[in-house]
Amino acid sequence: MQDLKDKLAFITGGASGIGLGMCRAFLGAGMKVVIADIRKEALNRAVADLKDASYNILPIHLDVTDRAAWVRAADQAEAAFGAVSVLCNNAGITIDGPIPQGTYDDWDFCLGVNLGGVINGVMTFMPRMIRRGEGGHIVNTSSMGGLIAGAGSGIYSTSKFAVVGLTEELRSDLAPHGIGVSLFCPGPTQTELFASSVAVRPANLGSTGYVPRTLPDPSTMPEDIAAAIYAIALKPEDAGRRVLEGIRRNDMYILTHPEFGDIVRARCEALLASMSREQPGPERLRAAKLLLTDKLYSEQIARARAREN
Ligand SMILES: NC(=O)c1ccc[n+]([C@@H]2O[C@H](COP(=O)([O-])OP(=O)(O)OC[C@H]3O[C@@H](n4cnc5c(N)ncnc54)[C@H](O)[C@@H]3O)[C@@H](O)[C@H]2O)c1
Repeated sequence: MQDLKDKLAFITGGASGIGLGMCRAFLGAGMKVVIADIRKEALNRAVADLKDASYNILPIHLDVTDRAAWVRAADQAEAAFGAVSVLCNNAGITIDGPIPQGTYDDWDFCLGVNLGGVINGVMTFMPRMIRRGEGGHIVNTSSMGGLIAGAGSGIYSTSKFAVVGLTEELRSDLAPHGIGVSLFCPGPTQTELFASSVAVRPANLGSTGYVPRTLPDPSTMPEDIAAAIYAIALKPEDAGRRVLEGIRRNDMYILTHPEFGDIVRARCEALLASMSREQPGPERLRAAKLLLTDKLYSEQIARARAREN
């Protein structure tokens, strides 16, 4: 979507961190913004922060796991500002630690918000966008941890890998409707994620196998790790600007942190290196092309290369 002025964005988890960074970037582009978040005090803080743009923002208290609340929130947004053109499914929580320590509550909490919240956002707004017939854009926030494993946060990574598959499929499905779909995979960013994840955990999913971190406390970390985090952590405003740019260009992938490129490449190469060594004949190659196409990926490669030239 090139022309974003006066268009309405609906951002979940918009009250802090990356979501708030998106709000700022979108408001700067002349858009109107619904800030949807489960934390009322964070919503109040965000509204106070953005008071200069108060005519163009609507805070909505929303738990992204609550499907009935999604319908009410969508109706409220449309009643206030008209149709939603850009949906950012960004709300998320983190669960930090190895899989063997996890409980079912850890899985249900994390998948419920990080995957279920995205599904609910898509299922609420996708039919409205299709019905309206004027296109639109959906951005789903995954993570660098949705592209590469090994950071020691397996439950979180599972939820974020799932968002990758959902988003890539959705991009093909919605292209005929003129609705762009982007996958946002930020690397480490300076946000409230550790504290907010503790604050929003519902009591009925309270049994955890982890000691939840409220803050990434540099004083308890080995010095080199603390320095590494400080060196690479992105500012939420910069994350917001990257997302805005990705929407304008209809990028399939919106990525940050090129310093992780070698690891992403290693994962792709590990996959290729693990394929069977047999040589499929022409008939099998033809059949494979009928079953699957590389269109989704080749288009994104072409877009990225065109920008380089
Ligand atoms: N901070 C990072 O380093 C980083 C890296 C990669 C991906 N991400 C992803 O970015 C997204 C935004 O997180 P952030 O880092 O800005 O953290 P944040 O805590 O600053 O923002 C997340 C927001 O989501 C809200 N939220 C949580 N559960 C919710 C629910 N059930 N319904 C509605 N809102 C809910 C929180 O209240 C919070 O305001 C998340 O999906 C996170 O997984 C963050």
